[in-house]
Amino acid sequence: MCGIIAYSGHQAALPILRAGLRRLEYRGYDSAGITLLARSRLQTWRAAGKLDQLESRLPEKNAAKCGMGHTRWATHGAATDENAHPHLSPDGGIAIIHNGIIENAMSLRAALTAEGAVFASDTDSEVLAHLVAQCPADSLLESVRQALTRVHGTFGLVVMDAARPGELVAARNGSPVIIGVGEREMFITSDANAVISHTREVVHLEDGELAALDARGFTLSTMDSAVTSRAPITLDHDAESLSRGGYAHYMLKEIMEQPEALARTLGGRLDRRFNTAHLGGLNLGPRELLDIRRIKILGCGSAYYAGIAGANLVESVARLPATAEPAAEFRYRNPLIEADTLYIVVSQSGETFDTLAALREIRRKGGRVIGVCNVVGSSIAREVEGGIYMHAGPEVSVASTKAFSSMLGCFMLLALQLGRVRDVSPQQGGEMIAALEALPSLVDTALGESDAIAVLAAKYSGIRNAFYIGRTDAFPVALEGAQKLKEISYIHAEAYPASELKHGPLALVDPETPTMVVLPDNNLLPKSLSSLQEIRARKGPVIAVTNADHPEIHALADDVITSPPCHPLLHPLVMGIGLQLFAYHMAVRMGRDVDQPRNLAKSVTVE
Ligand code: G6P
Repeated sequence: MCGIIAYSGHQAALPILRAGLRRLEYRGYDSAGITLLARSRLQTWRAAGKLDQLESRLPEKNAAKCGMGHTRWATHGAATDENAHPHLSPDGGIAIIHNGIIENAMSLRAALTAEGAVFASDTDSEVLAHLVAQCPADSLLESVRQALTRVHGTFGLVVMDAARPGELVAARNGSPVIIGVGEREMFITSDANAVISHTREVVHLEDGELAALDARGFTLSTMDSAVTSRAPITLDHDAESLSRGGYAHYMLKEIMEQPEALARTLGGRLDRRFNTAHLGGLNLGPRELLDIRRIKILGCGSAYYAGIAGANLVESVARLPATAEPAAEFRYRNPLIEADTLYIVVSQSGETFDTLAALREIRRKGGRVIGVCNVVGSSIAREVEGGIYMHAGPEVSVASTKAFSSMLGCFMLLALQLGRVRDVSPQQGGEMIAALEALPSLVDTALGESDAIAVLAAKYSGIRNAFYIGRTDAFPVALEGAQKLKEISYIHAEAYPASELKHGPLALVDPETPTMVVLPDNNLLPKSLSSLQEIRARKGPVIAVTNADHPEIHALADDVITSPPCHPLLHPLVMGIGLQLFAYHMAVRMGRDVDQPRNLAKSVTVE
């Protein structure tokens, strides 16, 4: 989604902004722009389309040492040059970049138009530039503060004033704003990855906070002008971890690095002495864990699917009723919040608006919420009462792979810890620990199928539709497998519990519509084999994804993606790897933009 990068310092701003915008690309965008301030003049370049369009308009060199850039993901107004940010005040003296949505933009536009204002774009953001210009004050900070009192909605924004060279003002309400602290230079961004090659010291703005900065430093204050302060935190990864590392796509790199990512997720959290997991960040003692009566997991997209798998894991291991629900649906149905339910919000980015809003709604009603997040210091991570960091490392590809697996790893640990304060015996706990210790190498084995799966993708790359089915704990595997295929190949793919096939979707099974059947080696295998029979009877091609060595599978399936045998606890994670690879190879085969699929954003920070 929209991205912000701004700079004030001793170096030329343009190359820093260019590189920063490249780092923001992965979030998804459809236009971009840059404003530079030199000799008390703001110069702005904007272009619809990818960054190459903007690059072709930018000067080779520019002496400005202060400027800002933006990638826009269209919400209000189409992706055109005019609607791209930065937006300017009518006299060209104020420039603004904005993430979020100004909800009263229509009425503000009408009021400003009645006063004679003329707008150059269809965006809600442009009104902000007009409002700041209309609020002259002793400082840019004060002008921005006054302008924001007229605005309802969400924002992460940066403002520049032609009359105040080197100064930048930022404000946050609902959209992330991060200050990067350098040596004689300061940065503002919506995503720490955009500044990490310059500094690892960052300060996250809180909602309702403003920052004023120049090359020498920054000050923080609230909308009520109260001065605040916060020491920078140090990011736990470096610029190197953001490179493609020789892979053709970030997605492939992230699929392939899952063994190491999972080793980090599990690292230091398996307690052999008491055969349990130790998740210190939960901030819950054994008595509090025992008092939990239900678990409710909330997330969006792949995080929601990881939540379904997580709920299955917790319920089957810890024998606690557990369910998952899309975060936005949950908060809009005025749910009952119960004191003895543990609410878990799951989010790779920690910034997904709907998940954050669900978290706030639960807390407002007095519920206890913990988080499962990847990005350290993200909004969700800061607002929960405790949680589990995934430690998967940065995920750049829009389609989530290693973060999904790492979420499942976190739920396995949680299930074990909750189970061990209930009726999981020390011996069962020990068996689960042994299984978890084997997880990275099992995933490595599953990844070894990549070449064979690429051959399979060549065979199926002409399809237009696909079904994915699985029973109980294989169902979220099917959901996530179908999600991956549709996200990056644009093939229509639908997932169903295998038992539901005959209640509707079977009508669409034909020789052109393959079904991926997820077949773990468990007591439901015979039942799943009958689904296979039903599909074959309708001449539907079948691709079995299995870790079972059963002759009937090979007799009935057209093709097989094999997965290594493992403890049932690990089935959803290990069996999902083959489907990630299948989606990846299909998309490559079809010439798709694997890392930045159309219409999608890595982190959805608007409603
Ligand atoms: C977007 C991404 C998905 C992701 C979802 C939730 O829709 O395209 O890949 O699963 O957001 O993201 P989160 O950062 O909250 O896990």
